[in-house]
Amino acid sequence: MTATWSVETAEFKKNAANVVNNNNIMAVVKNNAYHYGLNFAVEQFLQIGINTFSTTSLKEAVRIRKIAPEATIFLMNAVYEFDVLREHQIHMTLPSLQYYYEHVEDLYDIHVHLEFENLLHRSGLKTIDEIKEVLQHHEQNENTLKMHISGLWTHFGYADEFDVPDYDIEKTAWLNVVETLLKDGYQFEMIHAQNSASYYREGCVLPNHTHARVGIALYGSRPYGSLDESLIKQSLTVKGNVIQVREVQQGDYCGYSFAYEATENNTKLAVVDVGYGDGILKARAKHEAMINGKRYPIRALMMSHMFVEVDSEVNAQDEVILYNNDMRVDEYTFKGVGANSEQLSAMNHDSLIKEYR
Ligand SMILES: Cc1ncc(COP(=O)(O)O)c(C=O)c1O
Repeated sequence: MTATWSVETAEFKKNAANVVNNNNIMAVVKNNAYHYGLNFAVEQFLQIGINTFSTTSLKEAVRIRKIAPEATIFLMNAVYEFDVLREHQIHMTLPSLQYYYEHVEDLYDIHVHLEFENLLHRSGLKTIDEIKEVLQHHEQNENTLKMHISGLWTHFGYADEFDVPDYDIEKTAWLNVVETLLKDGYQFEMIHAQNSASYYREGCVLPNHTHARVGIALYGSRPYGSLDESLIKQSLTVKGNVIQVREVQQGDYCGYSFAYEATENNTKLAVVDVGYGDGILKARAKHEAMINGKRYPIRALMMSHMFVEVDSEVNAQDEVILYNNDMRVDEYTFKGVGANSEQLSAMNHDSLIKEYR
């Protein structure tokens, strides 16, 4: 008996196809495909017709090229290994005016996507004037060995926020940039901005855009809580096992450092073989685990164990679900445990048994 992390491959693929829904999607596969496994995810996405991928790591981009020789691969972070980009035909962001002028010669033959900074302030050209400056400088550059401007993009930092006007502000500013450049006669092979939240909020790929750049929805978690659960399905199960059920009495402290005090006599505690060392977040352990289809409160979290308060229906060797499609990662996101990607990234794939079914 060891705790397991498992993905139902057919469900993963079915969910991704539902998310795509005949739209043009660039799959975000950064951080080992949100911890679902880069090779696994890229292979499934290719099978459902996605052939455009993005990541933040050059190493991952090169790995994607090996799996997907024909795909368009977009690197969202600027790097300085220009030969590697050329060798593997990896598109890359243009992150600032300074980077452009410093590396205008290094960038020859590399496909760049001009990035608009907008409200996130993480990267990008600051204004439409800066974007035009690059476009004009590039046009006037008579060097035959020069970069290719293949795309225009931004990232919305507020698409997941509903109670503030910031998403509308950043979207309006961005659409104005796109429309103005197109009106001025500039053309881009690729224009992309939307993450999962924006893609679902808009109900489509934005006008003039070639792709939505979607991550978390493809992995089975909803970006915001008002989205119907049936639209996005989780294929991941994380589960442990009951090692034994023990009784404690009122006033007994259980777990390290008085973690839990039993409030009644004959309290039944299931000792379960999964803990924070396997990646279960402390905040997640404030909620329940599911045993035989019923939810029971987690009472204490240790490195390799947890206590779950149970009743007489629970026995040694029963399975203890921490995450599945009925106990979804996104449910705990909306309960304040942490972002979907934070919960997924926490999983320790070296201690959990990892299975693709
Ligand atoms: C630049 C960029 N684009 C797209 C995404 C995808 O976002 P989501 O997983 O919410 O769809 C991310 C994720 O953090 C990102 O950093």
